[in-house]
Amino acid sequence: MANASLTAAKNAKNDEFYTQYHDIEREINAYLDFNPDTFRGKTVLLPCDDPEWSNFTLFFAQHFEVLGLKKLISTSYAAESKLYKTPYQPSLFEQSAPQFDPAKTSVRGKIFVLDGDVDGDGIIDFHDIKWQYLEGDGDFRSREVTALRDEADIIVTNPPFSLFREFLAWIVAADKKFLIIGSANAITYKEVFPLIKENRLWLGNGFHKGNAYFRPVGDREYVAGVKDAETGLVKFRNCCWFTNLDHGRRHQPLILMTEADNVRYSRHKEIRGAGYAHYDNYDAIEVPYVDAIPSDYEGAMGVPITFLDKYCPEQFEILGASESEGKGFSNGLWHSESSVSQPLVNGSRAYKRLFIRKLQ
Ligand SMILES: C[S@@+](CC[C@H](N)C(=O)[O-])C[C@H]1O[C@@H](n2cnc3c(N)ncnc32)[C@H](O)[C@@H]1O
Repeated sequence: MANASLTAAKNAKNDEFYTQYHDIEREINAYLDFNPDTFRGKTVLLPCDDPEWSNFTLFFAQHFEVLGLKKLISTSYAAESKLYKTPYQPSLFEQSAPQFDPAKTSVRGKIFVLDGDVDGDGIIDFHDIKWQYLEGDGDFRSREVTALRDEADIIVTNPPFSLFREFLAWIVAADKKFLIIGSANAITYKEVFPLIKENRLWLGNGFHKGNAYFRPVGDREYVAGVKDAETGLVKFRNCCWFTNLDHGRRHQPLILMTEADNVRYSRHKEIRGAGYAHYDNYDAIEVPYVDAIPSDYEGAMGVPITFLDKYCPEQFEILGASESEGKGFSNGLWHSESSVSQPLVNGSRAYKRLFIRKLQ
């Protein structure tokens, strides 16, 4: 099956792709494995959601007690405001509620709150969710949703692909804990990379084998092979979770060979017998594969961007990145006024690189 890409979805201004339940479950379990109290006593906000479509609300509501949540809030975006329009029909759930209002249903966002056992069956779950219309359309940037952000401890969602930068900035401005889905291309965005470098943002546990499948809403054309006819799911490449919640995998150091052993035994022909090239214009060596990072090299190393998924902050520090937007990430490796933002090896450009150095 071919891949769609978040960038393509972003360019097509289609934000209506929904996350699968087991992907959410798998990701949340990684934080609970590390710290079972990650969510205990916390208010979790799921903006850009809609319980009628989304598994985020379902997952958190069904695990409200196990997670020890204090409060769960999710908000949905009005059908009329969505960039990608599909024929709108209020759900039976909404229509059967006393507060249903045909004048508001497609133009207002909704807020869903879970904070206690409403139906008196002794458990707090999905059936205890209360909802009402928001004053506005549920735009995360609105004053009312921003007030909910301020109330929350942790913000979790798959945000609109077209607004990823703005969404992250909105969270970071309030200094909140977060777990959000985005494209790996965002790693070198000027709004993202400085946070990675300062260890204020890292990659989450990740999708199974790095593949993310989302449920599309509406009927549209896909390039052949992108949409699985059997499951109806669309495969996205390059998708990851971005977070500042800690998990165990990021503290597992990479097992690596020394420089001498790499030269002797590396499975990569570029390294075996040859060693590492030094960039023409950066004071660093070129390491074209993550598994070829020499464990004992003391200086700066340029490594593929996929390294980030294996990054252990106790093992390496991140110094900079090539091809990142803006020139702010050189950390002295090259001159910030230089027009060259790519490292060169014998006059040829290397691929996009992160620059790292081992910690003692
Ligand atoms: C990628 S979908 C993900 C939905 C859901 N969180 C999930 O993963 O299953 C993003 C959602 O954000 C909504 N959205 C788009 N722009 C928004 C905005 N400015 N404020 C709030 N939500 C928005 C879209 O309509 C869409 O439902």
